[in-house]
Amino acid sequence: MEPQKIDIKLLETTIKKELADARETSDFEAILKKYLEKETGVLSKILRGLKDLSEEERKTIGPKANELNSLIRSEVFKASQSKSEDNSSDWEDITEPSQELEVGHLHPIALVLKDVSRIFGGMGFEIALGSEIENDWYNFDALNIPKDHPARDMWDTFWLKEFRTEAKDKLLLRTHTSPVQIHYMQNQKPPLRVIVPGRVFRHEMTDASHEFDFFQIEGLMVDQNVSVANFSAILNEFFNQFFGKEVKMKLRPSFFPFTEPSFEVDISCINCDGQGCPACKQTGWMELMGAGMVHPNVFKSAGIDSKKYQGFAFGIGLDRLAMLKYKINDIRLFKGCDLRFLKQF
Ligand code: PHE
Repeated sequence: MEPQKIDIKLLETTIKKELADARETSDFEAILKKYLEKETGVLSKILRGLKDLSEEERKTIGPKANELNSLIRSEVFKASQSKSEDNSSDWEDITEPSQELEVGHLHPIALVLKDVSRIFGGMGFEIALGSEIENDWYNFDALNIPKDHPARDMWDTFWLKEFRTEAKDKLLLRTHTSPVQIHYMQNQKPPLRVIVPGRVFRHEMTDASHEFDFFQIEGLMVDQNVSVANFSAILNEFFNQFFGKEVKMKLRPSFFPFTEPSFEVDISCINCDGQGCPACKQTGWMELMGAGMVHPNVFKSAGIDSKKYQGFAFGIGLDRLAMLKYKINDIRLFKGCDLRFLKQF
C-alpha cells in the first residue's frame, strides 16, 4: 500500500462504525482479522509502513494508527468479557454461592405413618398391607356382616359394576382396612401382632372432617389370654409416644359387628390437656377410633379357634391423627396439592 494514500480520518470513522455495529463475538473477530491480522490486516500494514513515511506524515498517521490498534483490541476484549458474564462461555466463578435447590419431602400423612409404624414396631407389631379392591365377603360377610344386614349401611360403599370374580363375588373399594384382618389370619398362625395402614373409600359427601377416600390403620393382636386391659395398655402407650406427652384414654361402649364388646376410644384433648376448649367442644375429650375384642364369628371366618384364642382389633383414622398432631382443621387439605400447605412439613 502506498503510504501517501492513507486517509487515516476515514479509516478512523469506518473502524468506529464497525465496532459500534458489532453484536456477536463473530463480528468482533471479523474486525480483528480485517484490521489487525499480522500479514494482511489493514492497520497492521499501516503500522508496519510507518518507518517508510516522511516525518510529517508519520506524525499525523502514527499516533492515530496506534490509537486505533488499541481501540480495536480493547473493544474485542470487552466484548469477550461481557459474553462470559452472560454465562455462555465456560468461565465460571466457583466461589459464588450456589442457588438453593428445592428438594422434595414427605407428605404429612406419610410422616405420621412413619411415626405410627415406628411406635407399634417397638411394641412387636409387624406391618401388613392389603388390596384396595376387595370382594364383599372379605369387606363384610367375613367380618360378621351378612348380606342384607342393616349394619352394611354403616359403610357407604363404592361398588365396582363391571368386575365380578369367578365366585360371583361383588367387588368394591374397601370401606375399611378390617378385611385385611381376615387375609392376615388366614395366612398366619397366632400369636399375631400386626398393623395395616391403607387407603379406604366411602361413598359420602366431603366436608372439613370427611373425605370419600382417606387412610386408616388397622391393628390386630391375637393370642391366648388377650384382654381389654392389654388393649388399653398398648394403645395408651401408643398415644403417649405419638403425642409426646401423657394422654388419658377412655373407652365408651359402641357397636361394630366384628367386635364384641365394641368401644369407641376417646383421648384427653391434646389441645387443652382435658381443660375444655373449642377443639374438643369444651368436653376435654376427643373421639379417636373404633375398637373391640375380635368377634368369635370373625375368628371362624379366618379359621382360628376362638375357644383357644382371643384378640383385640382397632381402626384409627390416619388423617385424623395427622390433623390432631399438626393442628390442621380441614381433611381436604391433604389431597389439595396446595404447595402453601404442603411446604410447611
Ligand atoms: N373398621 C372400623 C371402621 O372403619 C373400625 C374398627 C376396626 C372398629 C377394628 C373395630 C375394630 O369404622
